[in-house]
Amino acid sequence: MRLLVTGGAGFIGANFVHLTVRERSDVQVTVLDKLTYAGRRESLDPVADRVRFVHGDVADADLVDRLVGECDAVVHFAAESHNDNSLRSPEPFITTNIVGTFTLLEAVRRHQVRLHHISTDEVFGDLAFDDPTRFMETTPYNPSSPYSSSKASADLLVRAWVRSFGIEATISNCSNNYGPHQHVEKFIPRQITNLLTGRRVKLYGEGLNVRDWIHVDDHNRAVWAILDRGEMGETYLIGADGEQTNREVITLILEMMGHHRDDFDHVTDRPGHDLRYAIDATKLRDELGWEPQYRDFKDGLAATIKWYRNNEEWWRPVKDATEAGYASA
Ligand code: NAD
Ligand code: DAU
Repeated sequence: MRLLVTGGAGFIGANFVHLTVRERSDVQVTVLDKLTYAGRRESLDPVADRVRFVHGDVADADLVDRLVGECDAVVHFAAESHNDNSLRSPEPFITTNIVGTFTLLEAVRRHQVRLHHISTDEVFGDLAFDDPTRFMETTPYNPSSPYSSSKASADLLVRAWVRSFGIEATISNCSNNYGPHQHVEKFIPRQITNLLTGRRVKLYGEGLNVRDWIHVDDHNRAVWAILDRGEMGETYLIGADGEQTNREVITLILEMMGHHRDDFDHVTDRPGHDLRYAIDATKLRDELGWEPQYRDFKDGLAATIKWYRNNEEWWRPVKDATEAGYASA
């Protein structure tokens, strides 16, 4: 299979490429990535001899048409992915997440190539803390931020291209990922690298917001289950029953890294901050036989802390600028 991976130099995309090279010797990977502030070509260095890298924009129609014409399937990770950035500067979220997905859909339609579109549980909005239900494939869309509404827009475009033009596509909506190669702007790596650089942990508001954590390899194995066995036109929710309050997560990080559990700062909350995400992944488990391999969040978190300790050369060059960006916001 000749597989085009958009956004393959980002956090989840790079881990997907590593997993694919490790476990799928029958797959030839081409990565298309714009190398924005979030894209790190060096994340692909260990697999460089097995991967063709193309530096370019998913909204570049000519380039995308050529690359899609050369492949059998596309996995579309490329996106602007950070909510805080979308609140400061929404425009790139529109051009990449919406126009970029439209550009890819048109190429997929012309060349009749199979597409898997990567999306987020944030398209559903948020749940009350005491809501007994969780997000399901049938939950109505109700996004809150410029980021999540741009992802919701992209999902709806994919659904329309399936129904109106008969393209062969699937969609997955996953909860919060953690693991190696995640940008230090995001919650877990930000706190780990704050402690590693003598800074303090930063908790938005009271820290009661709940996220449903999943290890990035479990997400990517679910993507492969969908590529292998998913039904065309279907949506699959991906989650590993990993609900934790942000306060619980920072307590674990602080204690695992040898600090007192109260050694953190409360900082100004994110405007419109979603309260809680929670995924019901029954369809994925029952229909495609997927099960997460990381069952203990503490083990996955310990491995992630170890990765950041051992790979300072990967995150150090962008740490100060990321914190300066937060400080000036
Ligand atoms: P990321 O920000 O780490 O990586 C995004 C990648 O896309 C980067 O390599 C960047 O250079 C590239 N990119 C950005 N704009 C581009 C463009 N116009 N053309 C080509 N490449 C471009 O993001 P991530 O956390 O790895 O997320 C990947 C995908 O997974 C996104 O679609 C995101 O919405 C989705 N998702 C993320 C999570 C999560 O917890 N991180 C959860 C569910 C879904
Ligand atoms: O749910 C899936 C989504 O998860 C993905 O679609 C997004 O791409 C991904 O970024 C993530 O979105 P969140 O906004 O949930 O992730 P973030 O890491 O920014 O924040 C996680 C929680 O931690 C959130 O409640 C805000 C809080 N937070 C975040 C930062 C950066 C803090 O308390 N302190 C911080 O310094």
